[in-house]
Amino acid sequence: MIEQVADVEPGVKLRYGMVGGGQGSFIGDVHRKSIALDGLAEIAAGCFSRSVENTLKTGAALGLSNERLYKDFEEMAREEAKRPDKIDFVVITAQNYAHYETAKAFLSRGIPVVCEKPLCFEVSEAEELAALAKQNNLLFCVTYVYTGNATAKQAREIVRRGEIGKIIYINGEYPQEWLLAPAEKQGSKQAEWRTDPKQAGKSNSIGDIGTHVENMISYVTGLKIKSLLARLDKLGPGDRVLDDNATVLLEYDNGAKGVIWTSQVAAGYDNGMRLRIFGTKGSIELNVESSNYLKLAIFGGANAQISRGRDPFYPHAQSYSRIPSGHPEGYFEAMANLYKTYIKALVKQKEGKPLTDEDLDFPNVEDGIAGVKFIGKCVESSAKGAVWVNF
Ligand SMILES: NC(=O)c1ccc[n+]([C@@H]2O[C@H](COP(=O)([O-])OP(=O)(O)OC[C@H]3O[C@@H](n4cnc5c(N)ncnc54)[C@H](O)[C@@H]3O)[C@@H](O)[C@H]2O)c1
Repeated sequence: MIEQVADVEPGVKLRYGMVGGGQGSFIGDVHRKSIALDGLAEIAAGCFSRSVENTLKTGAALGLSNERLYKDFEEMAREEAKRPDKIDFVVITAQNYAHYETAKAFLSRGIPVVCEKPLCFEVSEAEELAALAKQNNLLFCVTYVYTGNATAKQAREIVRRGEIGKIIYINGEYPQEWLLAPAEKQGSKQAEWRTDPKQAGKSNSIGDIGTHVENMISYVTGLKIKSLLARLDKLGPGDRVLDDNATVLLEYDNGAKGVIWTSQVAAGYDNGMRLRIFGTKGSIELNVESSNYLKLAIFGGANAQISRGRDPFYPHAQSYSRIPSGHPEGYFEAMANLYKTYIKALVKQKEGKPLTDEDLDFPNVEDGIAGVKFIGKCVESSAKGAVWVNF
């Protein structure tokens, strides 16, 4: 069935800057390509690396002039804030350790922020960033990318409309295999920093991937964690300081129970984030490796595999589906969906128009705070011998 129509946004072209995302890095380029998908913003400035040489090379490859390339993020925030053609928002794609200081530098100069997860190391820092954003009336997005999938939005609508009843149990998992090798000692920069507490923070597997599961559960169900019990393990090779596998038991504010398992040492799994949500009337299953489909089971009824683009979605979720069924949408589209919503909200805000809940359907600084808290509580529980801790 071919029913999609082109979605062109005439007249909108914001300018953005990027911190991180230099040549040889991973996620910065994903952000640039995802933003380009809708053409609502173009890159105008950057401090792409700790190495000035890399920043200059990356900037040249992106067609930026040298005057918009900066040796560090402080200089970038200071100089950009002074310009009449300053950036409309900044995208922070550096490693975890740099998020707090960088976000603070831009927010305090009135520049809206999009930041990678986890937002920062400490809850107090995350709250400070939230306060700064609020004080300066700045929209803040934390890129929990998977909530951008149309199927995640449809799952949320299904739960909100009570179709699977009251949520009673949640099973979330995120297995990967890549750290079954000592990748951090084999030249993988991405593995080096993720296993280094100075750059990654208190946890590796919970901080890097568990936080995605926590956020997706919160997005789809709207439930808040009441308490948790976590065991963080080091099951991979060598003498790692941080966890590469973790098991978390959860209790939610409505009485629902849950479990989250994250692993970077699970042979056979690439990026297997899967969420199963069980209610009194039915269940939902989301799997990011097949994110064009959603499983819906109604107790006593038929099990359905719902196909994005083919089967009817509720209107809000449908508006995030871009191409016909059978033409898979994935990571880039999910990220592009976050940006499309965020940039349109920035434009609406500039025009002085009120923002609705639908306008603000992107992960925000409150989600960032919840993520940092989740990581901290998992580490605390595990360090105390895997005991229940209140959230
Ligand atoms: N949302 C997702 O799905 C997702 C996926 C991957 C990574 N991430 C997050 O993105 C971030 C980066 O991860 P990555 O794998 O791309 O890392 P990476 O090591 O590949 O890239 C990080 C880049 O940031 C640069 N950088 C570091 N400090 C800087 C500073 N002070 N100023 C300017 N540039 C600086 C590095 O030089 C490098 O170019 C992490 O916070 C990670 O958790 C999120």
